Amino acid sequence: MSCILTIEKLSKSFGRVAAVHDLSFEVSQDEILGIIGPNGAGKTTLFNLIAGEIKPESGKIMFNGTDVTSAQTFRRCRMGIARTYQIPRPFVNMTVLENVLVGAVYGGGMGSKASRKKCEEVLEKTGLFSKRNAFAESLPLLDRKRLELTKALATGPTLLLIDEVAGGLTESEVEEVLKIIHSLRRDGITILWVEHIMMAMKRGPDRLLVMDFGEKLAYGNPDEVLDSEEVHKVYLGDDED
Ligand SMILES: Nc1ncnc2c1ncn2[C@@H]1O[C@H](COP(=O)(O)OP(=O)(O)O)[C@@H](O)[C@H]1O
Ligand SMILES: [Mg+2]
Repeated sequence: MSCILTIEKLSKSFGRVAAVHDLSFEVSQDEILGIIGPNGAGKTTLFNLIAGEIKPESGKIMFNGTDVTSAQTFRRCRMGIARTYQIPRPFVNMTVLENVLVGAVYGGGMGSKASRKKCEEVLEKTGLFSKRNAFAESLPLLDRKRLELTKALATGPTLLLIDEVAGGLTESEVEEVLKIIHSLRRDGITILWVEHIMMAMKRGPDRLLVMDFGEKLAYGNPDEVLDSEEVHKVYLGDDED
């Protein structure tokens, strides 16, 4: 499997807070890498760095063999990097289809005919096609999460960064999300998935990265990682000293 993303000694601080510190890892083509860690561990900052919304103080981000560390956000998007937001940002006074079209036209750089076709395809994929003419603000939570995913997919990514899409959903709704994410991987999209719901993190990802204080605390097979002592300490707070 070839490597699609390489993170090399990446660091970003806010004042005295080292949000991401000396972090290195690789992501293979077509894998789902789950990322977990306590609040404030640096997960969203990592996504902001990969998507280009903020720049690191040091370190390197390689995407498909190209150094994108200082590339602008829209350029990374055109290269195939898309992300969802932890706090969804739909245009509330637009329909579902219009929201998704914005992603395809501005993020994906497609013409109007191609983008319309792309939007219909991704709406089918996420199960929102029948609601394409509903206003975004009228959608129930699961559909708002679907919309967040659909907007990102409309840009035609090969690497998708998903920031906490399962929070607040019922167990059967999380199952729905898992189904969608697995089908995206079958389409050849590589996925980085930040989530707090352990059921999703056990069953979704091929590998898990655990972050704490901006650093890599554990990495590997999800079952082994979730059973490890370091991870139990962080999540159960059973510090010995
Ligand atoms: N724009 C910002 N300005 C100041 N501090 C920030 C900013 N973004 C994140 N932080 C801080 O960086 C740390 C990591 O935050 P974040 O990446 O959001 O963590 P997570 O997503 O894992 O909960 C936190 O201490 C947070 O308060
Ligand atoms: Mg976050």
